[in-house]
Amino acid sequence: PETGCLSIIVLGASGDLAKKKTFPALFNLYRQGFLQSGEVHIFGYARTKISDVELRDRIRGHLVHGNAASSDLSEDLSNFLHLIKYVSGSYDSEDGFRLLDKEIYEHEVSKNSQEGSSQRLFYLALPPSVYPIVCKMIRHFCMNKSDLGGWTRVIVEKPFGKDLGSAEELSSQLGELFDEQQIYRIDHYLGKELVQNLLVLRFANRLFLPLWNRDNIDNIQIVFREDFGTDGRGGYFDEYGIIRDIIQNHLLQVLCLVAMEKPVSLKPEHIRDEKVKVLQSVPPIKTEEVVLGQYEGYKDDPTVSDKSNTPTFATVILHIKNERWDGVPFILKAGKALNSRKAEIRVQFKDVPGDIFKCKKHARNEFVIRLQPSEAMYMKLTVKKPGLEMSTIQSELDLSYKQRYQGVTIPEAYERLILDTIRGDQQHFVRRDELKVAWEIFTPLLHRIDEGELEPIPYKPGSRGPEEADELLAKAGYIQTHGYIWIPPTL
Ligand code: BG6
Repeated sequence: PETGCLSIIVLGASGDLAKKKTFPALFNLYRQGFLQSGEVHIFGYARTKISDVELRDRIRGHLVHGNAASSDLSEDLSNFLHLIKYVSGSYDSEDGFRLLDKEIYEHEVSKNSQEGSSQRLFYLALPPSVYPIVCKMIRHFCMNKSDLGGWTRVIVEKPFGKDLGSAEELSSQLGELFDEQQIYRIDHYLGKELVQNLLVLRFANRLFLPLWNRDNIDNIQIVFREDFGTDGRGGYFDEYGIIRDIIQNHLLQVLCLVAMEKPVSLKPEHIRDEKVKVLQSVPPIKTEEVVLGQYEGYKDDPTVSDKSNTPTFATVILHIKNERWDGVPFILKAGKALNSRKAEIRVQFKDVPGDIFKCKKHARNEFVIRLQPSEAMYMKLTVKKPGLEMSTIQSELDLSYKQRYQGVTIPEAYERLILDTIRGDQQHFVRRDELKVAWEIFTPLLHRIDEGELEPIPYKPGSRGPEEADELLAKAGYIQTHGYIWIPPTL
């Protein structure tokens, strides 16, 4: 790693994202020794007029959460909180950003009395509407000082626009201020352990190489479920809906990693080149391959309009028209207020030709990658039912992380992605051209929904979502194995 002085500036420091995700991730990095006292300083910037101490008090509770209480913890906590300084100012105020720059610079010169560079990481935990102005302020007043050298990088969060047009506008506004190498578009699904594992799994195992294609795979599902509703975020959510909130970004990114060809190397640009190619091979979504839903009670939220037709559930089938995948439906499904909370990839293989066992139908091999909770990979197999009879039963080969990697803590997605930014590794971040194609795929459908041409079907909170979604799945060729259920092993 480069030597020098690292300043991490969290803009929107008193907001929800900063408290729940950014600061806890920074704290975990600190505890693991990645952010050394003396070399790192953290700045919070927001409009609220509060003191350093007040900001620290506001975030303290979120840092303890999830960490086992110990004497080390309280010492780490107070040392970490002391690294944080607060600067208040509005997002379009030159004075505010000048002051911020002065604070950063003072710290840099005091630390750089010998040698080293100035590294400035800006985390925009802000609504995208202020990205252009905030980036302009950073560009004009807060860049790393050339006499010290180093770099300036900016992390931005979705939603990157609402459709192709607005996303492109945002991209070009940011593009005028920063080089692509300075912009880190975070999609936290790319920081999840089992998502990062996809490349290794696919390209380091001979077992999968010959099977991973249209000759052997019948259909692939990428599923996200939450067992709670929009919970106080109705105002934000109603403007975006489940497709923009989950499918167009998180699930589509996973799809790219499942479907892409082997990259030339692990260099970020090589990987991102392959992801773009997958997206470019996806034709427009057909209305008959979409089912939308809205849970009953969604509109009771006072911040949601009584007439809202925003989907809180969607099943969408994508096709990838290339040599490997032509004819294999990729079923993306996401919903709020469903019967369970999980995210998984299900790769369902074709039937075995010439079945001599007279297996009960519907016993296909299915390879499941459980992203969360209880990270696991398991392969559903047909085996001989143990006993004197020659009959078959569904079982599985199971790699459950809790059991296999006891005592190993799986890092939080944000932790890993912030560390990547400090190291200057853009592999797990979304490139501008990727974002553009992702919007091209979904924009026509989103416009049809926004114009009221497609209505979501009501479903009961706590259910599987609209029945029509299961019918669409069956039509796409997915066969549910009845009577089989995977039970995660207990320790
Ligand atoms: C966010 C969405 O990006 O991801 C939320 O805006 C969603 O609506 C969240 O709840 C889910 O993230 P995770 O990591 O809990 O699956």
